[in-house]
Amino acid sequence: MLDLDIRPLAGDLSFGIRIGGVTLASLTDPERRRAIAALFDVHGMIVFEDLEPSNELQVSISTCIGPLKDHPVAAIARVDRDGMLGVVEIRSGPSNGGLVEVGGRERTHWLPWHFDHCYNNELNRAGVLRPVTIVEDGGVTGFADGMALYAAFPKELRDRIEGRDIVYRLDGQYDTMRFGRPADLKVIRPKPEPPGFAETAAAMPRAIHPAVWTRASGEKVLHLGPYMAQGILGMEDAEGDALFEEACQAVNRVAEQGCAYHHAWSPTEMVIWDNWRMLLCVSGNRPEDERLMYRTTIKGDYGLGRFENAGAGGAILSETMV
Ligand SMILES: [Fe+2]
Repeated sequence: MLDLDIRPLAGDLSFGIRIGGVTLASLTDPERRRAIAALFDVHGMIVFEDLEPSNELQVSISTCIGPLKDHPVAAIARVDRDGMLGVVEIRSGPSNGGLVEVGGRERTHWLPWHFDHCYNNELNRAGVLRPVTIVEDGGVTGFADGMALYAAFPKELRDRIEGRDIVYRLDGQYDTMRFGRPADLKVIRPKPEPPGFAETAAAMPRAIHPAVWTRASGEKVLHLGPYMAQGILGMEDAEGDALFEEACQAVNRVAEQGCAYHHAWSPTEMVIWDNWRMLLCVSGNRPEDERLMYRTTIKGDYGLGRFENAGAGGAILSETMV
């Protein structure tokens, strides 16, 4: 197809592909751009390899899928210049992040399975990550496919969670994470937060997203994660919390049974993933190491998220968007 160099992602995974050698010049062809968008929709994530990376190339790859969206949280650092709207810096430097011990190691910037903007009513279509400064030890990003998770989930548990709505709020702290905690997780230092962050978060209503949803093409997607999760809507009691904990621990377990791919970064790559379908996790890295990623966010909405009590917080968020 259009001389795109397409390779399997890894092993016999049911999702994801690699595309080699895309250039800025090659992406001026609208047919090639449409082909990339179609491949993305089918496969859920693409690792672009053998690139000469730049902000321009990141924006050009991103906009094959749709227009860029600014980040909904005004306090997040960004690289907005020269039309690079919404290129967000994810920076890990000595002592600038929260610190945990997990798997017997101290890790900064560790993140459990999640989808981006779960605390928002609107769910961005996709994200693109590009490494600028990589680390030798850790810094691995995990991608789990919600379609594969749905198929592999224990049937009895799936039946109990399907049809439920999950409540999330903007709270990325480890010590308030109630569900899906690894048994050996120890919090050493909380995440530092920019000025005004806690106030912005506290003013937002909670967001609600379905545990399972159905794509326009008919496939079911299991799409829930422990990060920022508050519990099951209308079941925020012992029984509901036990069910959601079981579901989160099953996501942790089933992901590693053929539903996840863990990516160790090289500087000549970018990854785009479907935020309506995939879950992400981050292994974290040694606290003394410097790591820098640029993320772009692609606009869109699957139309199934909402704020609690028809929350007025939507207006608060939209004021922060460009
Ligand atoms: Fe994320």
